[in-house]
Amino acid sequence: MKGKHIVLGISGGIAAYKAAYLLRLFMKAGAEVQVVMTPNGREFITPATLAALSGRPVVSEFFAANTGEWHSHVDLGLWADVMVVAPATACTIGKMVTGVADNMLVTTYLSAKEKVMVAPAMDLDMWAHPSTQRNVAILRADGVEIIEPGSGELASHLVGKGRMAEPEEIFRAVKKYFDRSRDLEGKSVLVTAGPTYENIDPVRFVGNWSSGKMGLALAEALAARGAEVKLVAGPMAKSEAIPGVERIDVVSAREMLDACLNVWNGCDAGIMAAAVADYAPVNAAQSKIKREGVDEITLTLRRNPDIAATLGCIKGDRMLVGFALETENGVENASGKLERKNLDMIVLNSLSDPEAGFCKDTNKITIITREEAPRCYPAKSKREVADDIVDAMTALWEGK
Ligand code: PMT
Repeated sequence: MKGKHIVLGISGGIAAYKAAYLLRLFMKAGAEVQVVMTPNGREFITPATLAALSGRPVVSEFFAANTGEWHSHVDLGLWADVMVVAPATACTIGKMVTGVADNMLVTTYLSAKEKVMVAPAMDLDMWAHPSTQRNVAILRADGVEIIEPGSGELASHLVGKGRMAEPEEIFRAVKKYFDRSRDLEGKSVLVTAGPTYENIDPVRFVGNWSSGKMGLALAEALAARGAEVKLVAGPMAKSEAIPGVERIDVVSAREMLDACLNVWNGCDAGIMAAAVADYAPVNAAQSKIKREGVDEITLTLRRNPDIAATLGCIKGDRMLVGFALETENGVENASGKLERKNLDMIVLNSLSDPEAGFCKDTNKITIITREEAPRCYPAKSKREVADDIVDAMTALWEGK
């Protein structure tokens, strides 16, 4: 953490006093910390304490009252390697979600270019309220990492979930974020994403609902850690170019297989997040099939090649990660795929889970390997899920 720039946002809750301990932990680890407080935050802990601990004046107002000097939230947003909001009240979370930029903390959040982490703190009923839960889900989907509150006695003396995670836990989450940055430099990783379309005729196809969001999130997570990514993408929305990611667009399963085989030799690992059509029409019509006078048509489908299994056969000591999209008997079915396709790890997601599956911004996964018992993760944004998958893959890699 030495030399890293951390913006510590403090909003108005009793847990604000713990922010001083968190600040000490960051300082001891060699980070530079700029505290940004909401006006209510100042009621719970004095700026003088935080300025003394950080060695920097605390920023709280848009202008310095006596000199008129402007505090630039844009500069702060650019300066930060990470922004940590601890404590984050229900009010501040709501403002972050809706962009109500009426204080320095929220304007800095809106200007932040790098990772933002939020440690909520509030009473148990406020935390459990659908409004808060909705807002937290939106922040997650926006790529913000939520450091879950703990359970225990709260300021109201009620007992339940809502107290801010302990400073040590928040510190560990930030350290983990910095530790993972650039750990995949020099590695090349193949990622498949999106659906495949299998032509029936020039205007119709057999396909599925995959949006490519999960695969794209994986490509982003890998590239953020320094990997060179070959993203073999089925038909899915165009994304902004991501530095470090070479996108190869394909349409059908056979094209996806060819593209994967073309790059697989130069890769150290592969993550198969695409929803490949299992079957394709045997003979796609060359011209549009007419409907006039035709009440029924019969399509004969033939099994497509299994891309993951093909790469699994020739993978040698490379790492191969598959996905399993199941509706029932998830662990059993996914474990079968792990073996049949010669994978090192499989990521189970279930269509019966409301927070998982096609097109969603979130996913809820279980990671299955041969080495350990299946590990379930809570619902998170697909970008956070991608980090968890890459973490698990690199841990397995290191163990080999
Ligand atoms: O794209 P999103 O909208 O974000 O949705 C993400 C997702 C639900 C598509 C993704 O998380 C996911 O589960 N992808 C795998 C879907 C799938 O096809 O699962 P499966 O259980 O049928 O296949 C098992 C594995 O074999 C997968 O890694 C798949 O990519 C691979 N496979 C399957 C068939 C085939 N012919 N070739 C393959 O390589």
